[in-house]
Amino acid sequence: MEVPCIDLAAAYQGLKAELDEAVARVMASGIYVLGENLAAFEQEFAGWIGTAAAVATGSGTDAIYLTLKALGIGAGDEVITVSHTAVNTAMAIVKAGATPVFIDIDPETYCMEPALLKAALTGRTRAVMPVHLYGHPVDMEPVMEFAAGRGLAVIEDCAQAHGATCRGRTVGTFGVAGCFSFYPTKNLGACGDGGAVVTADAELAARIRSLANCGQGSERYLNIYRGDVSRLDELQAAMLRVRLRHLHEFNHRRREIADYYEQALVAAGLTPAVRSAGDGLAAGIVPPAERDWARHVYHLYVIRSKERDRLRAHLEAAGVRTMVHYPRPAHRQPAFAGLLRAPLPVTEQVVSEILSLPLYPELDDARLEQVARALKSFAA
Ligand SMILES: Cc1ncc(COP(=O)(O)O)c(C=O)c1O
Repeated sequence: MEVPCIDLAAAYQGLKAELDEAVARVMASGIYVLGENLAAFEQEFAGWIGTAAAVATGSGTDAIYLTLKALGIGAGDEVITVSHTAVNTAMAIVKAGATPVFIDIDPETYCMEPALLKAALTGRTRAVMPVHLYGHPVDMEPVMEFAAGRGLAVIEDCAQAHGATCRGRTVGTFGVAGCFSFYPTKNLGACGDGGAVVTADAELAARIRSLANCGQGSERYLNIYRGDVSRLDELQAAMLRVRLRHLHEFNHRRREIADYYEQALVAAGLTPAVRSAGDGLAAGIVPPAERDWARHVYHLYVIRSKERDRLRAHLEAAGVRTMVHYPRPAHRQPAFAGLLRAPLPVTEQVVSEILSLPLYPELDDARLEQVARALKSFAA
């Protein structure tokens, strides 16, 4: 039996009747863009996150880019973020005309290390963009404190963290805006591209909505800004409404699977007694950390091992497909050559050691047991 690392067909089968009905309704309505599903989804998603407004966009990348543009952050401005992320984070910043300034990460959560913000600050810094990577929140308290004292905008990249919390508060509600992706593999995934910005600032929401719709204001054919076309279409909105109704149970199942894997790693004797302290990773496999102030939603289950490549080959031979998120940090991409200002030792180290095990709500117990057996035979 094969255990795929991602299985979007299974995600469709799991909710087939509800999704098919939603799609059929949209097709019959004859309204495919800017219809009632978009308006309803925006309201429902804002409610689910617990904020005033959501503006849906054509992608998560555009959610970030349009937020920066709406805040007037562009040419000559710097945005402090991480290199260890999906390259889209940095791509959205440069699309807005600004410069990403990369700082290093916490070696256990793989998220932005807030203590490093100060050293990256310059007279051009306008914003901080924490990325809640893999579903674990960034420690937002020191990030907000740092930004507040300096008049910087905090824009959260929540693309991988729908429903994650930091000290009980949902990510996306700390900064001036939270940017989400509905790329099909995400915790809340569309059947195509999609994204959204959540914000408590009604004026900012209106500006982003206008920028995403060709700069049009509330009056049709009256264009206030030089905008883009980046709208979530009705089919995607209708399917996302269905999946949003199940998101709590999906996140719960992701956490169950994460627990199962951690127990399997411990039972196989693979976990080191002490988690890595940066370079202290002697042998074995380090499971993902969940800080006591955090609720992880396990978009990805990323383990770390000095023997990553051998482990990956072993799992592959046992039918267990894995992935690496991400093998090349943003500052090592040709597209961002020359951007690095200060070394990123933790980022550099983890890229050769991280491995994502299969994790999605539809993963059944038989397949989980197969992964556990493969881990156990690796230990042997
Ligand atoms: C951390 C992160 N930021 C931004 C994005 C951009 O989202 P999208 O693919 O919807 O443009 C993604 C997803 O690819 C992501 O994982």
